[in-house]
This record gives sequence, structure tokens and C-alpha cells, in this order.
Amino acid sequence: MCGIIGYTGNQPAKDILINGLKQLEYRGYDSAGIAVLDKDAGFIMKKKTGKVAELEAAAAEDKTEATCGIGHTRWATHGGVTETNAHPHNQGSVTICHNGIIENYKELTTEYGLKKLLKSETDTEVVAALLDQFYEGNPYKTIKRVVDLLAGSFALCIMFEDQPGKIFAIRNVSPMVAAAFDGGSIIASDLTAVINFSKKYFVVPEYHILTLSESGIQVQDLKGRAVEPEILEVNWDITSAQKGGYPHYMLKEINEQPEALERTIAPRIQDGLPYLLDDGIDDAILKELKDIVIVACGTAMHAGMVGKSLIESKLRIPVTVEIASEFRYKDPIIDSSTLVIVVSQSGETIDTLEALRLARKKGCKVLSVVNVKGSTIARESDYVLYTHAGPEIAVASTKAYTVQISAMYLLAARLGYVRGIMSEEETKEFIKKLSEVGEIMKRTIDASNDIRMIANHIKKAPDVFYIGRGIDYTMSLEASLKLKEISYIHAEAYAAGELKHGTIALISEQVPVIAIATEDHVYAKVISNVREVKSRGAYVILISQEGKTESEEVCDKQIYIPKVDSTFGVFATAVILQLIAYYTSDAKGLDVDKPRNLAKSVTVE
Ligand code: M6R
Repeated sequence: MCGIIGYTGNQPAKDILINGLKQLEYRGYDSAGIAVLDKDAGFIMKKKTGKVAELEAAAAEDKTEATCGIGHTRWATHGGVTETNAHPHNQGSVTICHNGIIENYKELTTEYGLKKLLKSETDTEVVAALLDQFYEGNPYKTIKRVVDLLAGSFALCIMFEDQPGKIFAIRNVSPMVAAAFDGGSIIASDLTAVINFSKKYFVVPEYHILTLSESGIQVQDLKGRAVEPEILEVNWDITSAQKGGYPHYMLKEINEQPEALERTIAPRIQDGLPYLLDDGIDDAILKELKDIVIVACGTAMHAGMVGKSLIESKLRIPVTVEIASEFRYKDPIIDSSTLVIVVSQSGETIDTLEALRLARKKGCKVLSVVNVKGSTIARESDYVLYTHAGPEIAVASTKAYTVQISAMYLLAARLGYVRGIMSEEETKEFIKKLSEVGEIMKRTIDASNDIRMIANHIKKAPDVFYIGRGIDYTMSLEASLKLKEISYIHAEAYAAGELKHGTIALISEQVPVIAIATEDHVYAKVISNVREVKSRGAYVILISQEGKTESEEVCDKQIYIPKVDSTFGVFATAVILQLIAYYTSDAKGLDVDKPRNLAKSVTVE
């Protein structure tokens, strides 16, 4: 939650910070602010509730040439959405931005008598007040002393008034990356705000103090020793993180799926077989495991459910899918024979990260499926299978989801092959079909015109139901999440055969029911369930494979996915369901990319 940025160099900082905040805005968009440190005027601060564009307008008149500053875009946790609660926060000689949660801020407020000093309701201002109270001219010592007192997660960018041109930073859990380049240095919650300056960067190590200046970045551990961070290089450029002519990031990212899949799948095929050794995933772990537990949140968890459906049906290996925030508190039944797979686009979701830590503590090997290189989840896992979706900016996850599913398919194929469950020929056939799904998705996107009309119908509905069986039921779960989060329409996913056990009471005239029936072996059963809702007046939209046409008695509209082996239909189905949510949100005139109350990366519990 929240995006933070710091820049110091030989250019005026104000516009750099605001442009960086625009890149980070998907992380939070309740309010935004910047502070620059002018060597004559001291701190100059501007904060605004609302989007970064409002901050930009408000700061347009400020002509400061200061070349060092910090900025923040907020997703409120402590205190309402007000200018006073917006970051940066200043206390005396110190100004800070913070991402994360300081769990013991109340205790610290009492213990250090800070109450009378605080202007906001935030946990962050307590940190600013402590830094100011302890500061005696040595930033390193002061930060170390304060950080020793903090419980919780934090990424902090700090400026001291008597340290012109310098930004200090430290983090625990909450992400930050940094880069030094010719003429300055920059630090931010993620790469999208850094990449304009440098393709080489490093992940800020936890509990290390950084000093950023025009001439570079010093990194010290808490014993005062200099540390050389590992330099990484991004393989995408800033245009990947821009809209590129699309009206919204979400639509762009839906369209990028065929390429993202190609990037994720193609390098992992050797001689027609799945090959994961370059990712460090050796066959021993796949041969030895007795069961699999997949842990994730939201859309990533839904990708895990597709993985479960595939692995159980094809390989007969037991798989449990757990919601990370539940897994953490239920003393899960796992041991060293369980392979725990954690799935996360950002690699920073705190519930997923804590679940990973618990699994490792219990002796399990953890394999993560992660999109963001060098993220905390990737670094703490035993094995990492990176997805190559590129940056996903829209809050509603689309391309990250389908590449996560493709990673599950790759893993399943290798698992089946090395355990002798799938013959070489079967595995090659499976991989061939997997390699073709990008093209199938492209055809689905190209033929998606009707979806706008369907969205125009759905946009008026207070409730929408998604029904399906088997793998199509897991697709329904993701579809309803997608519709809810960006169109604010109540949507429910139901196993098609379960509806009649109660929920069918909610079906009445014109309630839209989106039925997904792409699997041959349960097609007739789903159609029976469709008839049940249709005869109660529902407006039915049926998603099926080409060639399976139903009359008006069964459904009001039909959308087809290309004819494909049922196991691989999920990719095309996902595209259709994403587009339904996208066009519905757009038809309602909502902010598709930045839905209310949400943030892209959930780094609070
Ligand atoms: O970064 P992660 O994949 O760990 O994020 C998990 C969820 O927060 C995320 O998938 C969320 O559900 C999306 N907003 C859904 O579109």
C-alpha cells in the first residue's frame, strides 16, 4: 500500500517527484504529497487529497528549484483521507514519507510523550516525531535508534533539514528499490518510478540505512559496515509501464497477454518438453513431494485453483488451495513432504509472505510463482518460477493471472513427466497445446466486439451471477472478483450444480447469469443448470466453445471461445471474462484502473 519516492540530483526535484508518483499511483490514490528540501528556504511541502493530478495542479505555481525531495501517494490505513493525514509528515527538523504500518505507534506516543506534538492521526508522524526528538546531527545514529523501537513494516524516506541534498532510507518488509545514475540517485516503492533514470537498480536490503546524494548511494548495515548491494537489470522499458495508446492500463494489459504468455512459456521448453532447471527447479523436489499446498490471495489464489484442478485431474496428486490470510492462523497440516507453492504478482503481499515464512518454519520447501524480480517473496523462496508478464499497473489483475496459470501448467507438465505419470509423447503434446494458447487468446481478443453490448446490459444490474463446473467454476470465482472490484456490481460465483440448493432463490426476471461451459465432460450438466435459471427469468449469457450453439430457449446471448482441448480453454475464457468486467466498468464511467478503496499491492495485514 502507498507509493513512496525520493530523488536527489542536479535537476529540480518537484516535477520528477510528481511524475514518479504518477507511475506509483496504482499503489494508492487517496491523497498525495511532496516535500523538497531547499537549502535556503528549508522544507517546502505540498499535499492534496485525491489523485496525483490534483497535487500536480496545486503545485503548478510553485517555482522551487530545489533538487532534493520525497513524495508519497497514499492508501489510508491510520486516519481518514485528509490533507493533514497525507504524507510527507514533518516534525521540526525532519520530514518523512512512509509505506507500511507501525504497529506500536500508540505505545511509542505515550512512552515518549509525543501526543501534544502530533498534528495528524497517522502512525507515520510518530516516527517523524521520534526522529526529530533523537536527532543530534547524526542521521545514521538517529535512524538506527528509532528503527530499533519500531514494530511493524515500513519503508521510510527521510530528510533532515541540516542535510541538504541528502535522503536517508530504510525498510523492513515494505518494498523499495533504488538506483544511482549520472547526476543523481532515486529510490521508490517500485521500478516503474525508477526506470526512467536507470535500468540498473538494487532491491534495498532490509534493515540497512541508505544515504542518497547527487554523487551516488551509500548502503550501511546496522553495525555501520558498508555494503555493496547486488545490482539487477530490468528487461523492460518505461513504455511497458505506460498506456501506449490504450484508454486504460487494464485494456492494454488484457491485450498484452499473448506476448506475456509467450515470454513465460517459450524459454521453458527444450526439445518439446518442459524444462525448469534454468529456474533452479530440479526434478528431485518434484519427484519427492507427497502433496501440494498452494497459498495466495485474490486473483493469484484463483490462478492457484486452476492449478489444483489441473494437477488433481491429470496427475492425481492431492492439492489444497489456501487463502494466505487464513493459512497463517490455522496451524496448517503440512510437513517436509509438502511442496508449498506461493503465487503472487507483486511478490510483496504481506499475507502471502507470512504464509511462506510459516511454511518454511514447518520444514516445507517453498516454490514461488512471482512476477516482480527480486521481490521479497522471490528472495525468501527455495525455488522461484518467474512469470514474465512485465509491469502490471491496473489494480485489477489480468495478464499476471493468465501467466500464473501458464506457470502452473508448466509445473504440472514437468511434474507429470518426471513422475512417469505422463509419457514423453503425452508431455510433448501437452506442451505443444500450451504453446498455442497465446495465439488462441489473440483470436479471442480480436473477436470480442459483442462484449461491449453485453456490458451495456450488465451495467444496469445490481447483481450478477457466474456459474460453471470444474475448472469453469474456478474461472467464475475470478470473473466475479473482477466485476466486483472495478464495476462495483455485486457478483457471485457459484458451482452450477450447487445453485439449486438455495441461491437460486435470488434469480428473478432479468438477473444476469453468466454461465461458463467450456469443458466437454460437464457441458450437458451445465446446460441443465442454465435451463433452471432461464426458466426463472434470468438473462443468460453463455460462454462455450465454437460449435456448441444453444437456442434462445437456453440463453439470451452466446459468446464463443475458439475450439480447443478443454484443458486449455481457460486462457481464452479468462480474456472474455476480463473484457466483460472491463467494458462494464467503462460503460458505467468508472475509473477502471484505480477502483475505489483498493490498491495494487497489499502490504498490510
Ligand atoms: O501481488 P499479488 O498477486 O500477491 O496480489 C494478490 C491480490 O491482492 C491481487 O491478485 C488482487 O486480488 C487483485 N486486485 C485482483 O484483481
